Amino acid sequence: MEHVHVYPDTAGLARAAAELFVHLAEGAVRARGRFTVALAGGSTPRGTYALLASEAFAPRVDWSRVHVFWGDERCVPPEHPESNHRMARETLLDHVPIPPANVHRIPCEQEPMRAAATYERTLQEFFALAPGAGVPQFDLILLGMGDDGHTASLFPGTAALHERRRWVVAHYVEKLQAWRVTLTPAVLNAADHVAFLVSGAGKATRLREVLRGSYQPDILPAQIVQPASGRLVWLVDAAAAALLFV
Ligand code: 6PG
Repeated sequence: MEHVHVYPDTAGLARAAAELFVHLAEGAVRARGRFTVALAGGSTPRGTYALLASEAFAPRVDWSRVHVFWGDERCVPPEHPESNHRMARETLLDHVPIPPANVHRIPCEQEPMRAAATYERTLQEFFALAPGAGVPQFDLILLGMGDDGHTASLFPGTAALHERRRWVVAHYVEKLQAWRVTLTPAVLNAADHVAFLVSGAGKATRLREVLRGSYQPDILPAQIVQPASGRLVWLVDAAAAALLFV
């Protein structure tokens, strides 16, 4: 099973993800003077973000050179308990010396379509890409996987999975009865590195289907993440990996 690294527990997974972040940040800053990362939402990354904010990790990153984005966002205000921005702020960004101008959140206080258009413009300006000319190439994109096989806010059966032109889309997710804004597959697959963080027994069945089953991204959206030239790694704990090697 290529690129799958199994850790005994969530602490081991968080440490490995934090080490990867630090390693890639050091390399990107040395090579290009900056490190661009799109954070994952949900709950799994909390341990990683808290570690990155700790004395053991934070001093190893030149936060003045780090630019933080998000892979997706719930369409709620930034202070809402459901906000991915709020989760990252509480666990990491409020505890490290990252300049506010380096935090590029998805402005979900705007109505969804407008938030997506604003975020796409942010990407165009930051990566200095004219519309239709290339795709933003993040140094690292962190992703989670839902127990239905979704990733970012690319949910099974949604049109967002087939978006070819836009880098960011807003869509109403029937299953959640909620609007989401998400990076599209083109941006996920342009990244230099993509790391999935997956933990818990509840993900084991789906993880096996995603990694070992047939390619059916409409049903298992995580499968659509196949970086064109970047490296893909799956950092998983033993509980989530329980069915991978049986
Ligand atoms: C979100 C995430 C989503 C998440 C998965 C896994 O906004 O919820 O971007 O894709 O990564 O749902 O979530 P957990 O880590 O909470 O299981």
